[in-house]
Amino acid sequence: MLTDEFAIAFREEHREIRDALLALIEAFRAHNKARITAMIGKAARLTGPHFRYEEEALYPSLVEVLGEDYIEKMLLDHDCAIGTVNALVELADKGKLSEAETRGATEAARTILPHVSDCEGLSIMTELLPDRQLQRILDRRDVCKREGLGLVQWATQVRKRPFVKIKVDAVR
Ligand SMILES: [Fe+2]
Ligand SMILES: [Fe+2]
Repeated sequence: MLTDEFAIAFREEHREIRDALLALIEAFRAHNKARITAMIGKAARLTGPHFRYEEEALYPSLVEVLGEDYIEKMLLDHDCAIGTVNALVELADKGKLSEAETRGATEAARTILPHVSDCEGLSIMTELLPDRQLQRILDRRDVCKREGLGLVQWATQVRKRPFVKIKVDAVR
């Protein structure tokens, strides 16, 4: 069944994004620069196509069920997540981070996590969509995955919405 196919693929993507973010938090805590860079790269590679097909196909199909305000909230979560990843990339390039900066970075990375679980919850609503609409979402997913734009690349070159500029503060 198409609903199951979608739900399984969707959950697996959220799982991978969750694990990449948790690994990134661990890497910051361990002051492991190589791993920080690798995990930011991984998170950006995973979230780029995922956010993109959500915005281009999934979220618009759920406006009828959840209303524009909630979908706008999901888009705003993306605006903030893009800004956060951007800020973390800059911070990771800085070299050795202080303990306070590390705490700031881990808290910033953590702010993306609730969107992952909120978004996973949309699965229960996608069960309401007719197969042809689900197929359109899966097709768009294929295209976005094939094009494989990373988060920042997609956000700056393709996405129309501006993202939120985030400053990662040192936390004492
Ligand atoms: Fe999302
Ligand atoms: Fe998602």
